Amino acid sequence: MNLMLFGAPGAGKGTQAKYLIERYNIPQIATGDILRAAIVNKTAMGMEAKEYMDAGKLVPDSTIIGIIQDRLAQSDCKEGFILDGFPRTLAQAQALDFLMEKMGIKLDKVISLNVPDELIVGRISGRRVCVKCGASFHVEFNPEKVEGVCDYCDGELIVRKDDNAQTVKSRLEAYHAQTAPLLDFYSDKGILSTLDGTKDVAAVTSDMFALLA
Ligand code: AP5
Repeated sequence: MNLMLFGAPGAGKGTQAKYLIERYNIPQIATGDILRAAIVNKTAMGMEAKEYMDAGKLVPDSTIIGIIQDRLAQSDCKEGFILDGFPRTLAQAQALDFLMEKMGIKLDKVISLNVPDELIVGRISGRRVCVKCGASFHVEFNPEKVEGVCDYCDGELIVRKDDNAQTVKSRLEAYHAQTAPLLDFYSDKGILSTLDGTKDVAAVTSDMFALLA
């Protein structure tokens, strides 16, 4: 099962990806998590990406496409994968088509989580993420079981550096200008399904599983 979770920053892609991993036993490929790991490891790619991420701008396509090319070639993607936060531009979507065609695979479904901008700021300002596995929680809407500790791997929960009001504004602008137009791209392919992402976490998960059944 080759899936894509699509939506604005804070729409709940990472949150729902964890439930898909549990159910289908396929890996999540989150370009944001891969970039953050590169920053922690102080790689050249990480250092280049950091400037863009801190400003809420998209990292250049060439960097992102290289990441995806390497990641899809890994053996754990053979039975399927969940793309989270990729693609974000038409050039990335076209590169993904090209790569998948070369690999002889196709996308089964693109699941778009629809959440209006007004709700995004509240979600992002209350978000806590795991430093080890990248899982997302929310102080009010999706709290962890033990305060400050990840439910999945016991990692420490922190506030992401780009989760501030100014950066969220830039990220939303980038989403509407460069990423949202891809909805038509996938709708034209007949693989797009849109879910109401404003429901609570469990209700969105249940709608998503019903869609994939
Ligand atoms: P990335 O890490 O991908 O961030 P993002 O797209 O901004 O998405 P988020 O991780 O913020 O949101 P999410 O949808 O996963 O929401 P979550 O589940 O955490 O990218 C960061 C940066 O990296 C980008 O700005 C860019 O610079 C760069 N980058 C990454 N990929 C790139 C690419 N392909 N091209 C170029 N640049 C790239 O949920 C959010 C909060 O809401 C949490 O607190 C959660 O608990 C809560 N929540 C979730 N669901 C619900 C619900 N149903 N009800 C109430 N609360 C909920």
